[in-house]
Amino acid sequence: MAWHEDAVLDLCTEKCKIERWFKSKKHHVALVLIDGKRFVAKIFSPEHPHGKENEARVLRLVAGQGIRVPKVVRETEAGLLLSYVEGRRVFDIFCEGNMEEKADACRATARWLADFHERLSSNGQLRGDPNLKNYLISPEGGEGGDDGGREKEDGGGGEETGGDGRSGGYGGKEEVWGLDFEEARAGEPLEDIGGLCAAILLGGEPFSSEKPALCECAVLEYAKMQGGEVANTDLDDPSLWLYTAKWIEYFAAWRSDREELMAKASVIRKMGYAAACGHRIGEGSL
Ligand SMILES: Nc1ncnc2c1ncn2[C@@H]1O[C@H](COP(=O)(O)OP(=O)(O)O)[C@@H](O)[C@H]1O
Ligand SMILES: [Mg+2]
Repeated sequence: MAWHEDAVLDLCTEKCKIERWFKSKKHHVALVLIDGKRFVAKIFSPEHPHGKENEARVLRLVAGQGIRVPKVVRETEAGLLLSYVEGRRVFDIFCEGNMEEKADACRATARWLADFHERLSSNGQLRGDPNLKNYLISPEGGEGGDDGGREKEDGGGGEETGGDGRSGGYGGKEEVWGLDFEEARAGEPLEDIGGLCAAILLGGEPFSSEKPALCECAVLEYAKMQGGEVANTDLDDPSLWLYTAKWIEYFAAWRSDREELMAKASVIRKMGYAAACGHRIGEGSL
């Protein structure tokens, strides 16, 4: 048995069944069944020894504050057992959804981020890694699905186009949940907003023509949540797009289109992403 499977069994303690593995670049993340109930076992790579402590710290910090994140159910040296959140990744909506779904997902994610910043403002806490795979959209109360949940089988592939096999259209109220806090750290909230814009620009088809309008949608919703009083949430503001360029460079390190992304980030640094993509602020009809 591979070491990470052993680590999952150790983390679950009771009899558990590994249903499937999520794709993870650095770690081993499994969907497990314990007594017919779903949980997520996240086993951290020994090459990133501080990731687990940091993720557990942030999840515990926000627990009970009304921010939608998984609960830490159990912890071992190797990993965290988390409550399972049933949902569709915002990333998948960007790959498969129509413009209205994407705009709704951007607004909902921006509201989650504004909530996170507001509750943790005294700590100046950033969420870090803004990848759209780190946000799930769930029906209301989407935590802790049992075996009768709506999730379909993965079918063994297609990670880049809805690989988690989750379907949308739950009918009722949908909510965003945030995942993956291993890179959370102290910083300026604007960095996270720039990160969300970078993730929007890259999610699905990178830099497609509707992206600046989707960034605008997210930024305006964030500002609205803050009573419109937060400085620098104007899409035209250089400090916002400098952070966006920085996050694009961060994502570039992991991707095969690295050179193109680095070139794009450098244009954004000079002129902003709206101008870089030929978009006029306020032009979108979203
Ligand atoms: N609590 C959870 N509920 C449902 N799915 C989860 C949960 N935690 C992780 N996942 C899934 O596993 C994937 C990888 O987990 P994540 O914590 O983002 O680790 P990493 O990105 O470091 O591999 C996520 O994109 C998501 O699809
Ligand atoms: Mg992740």
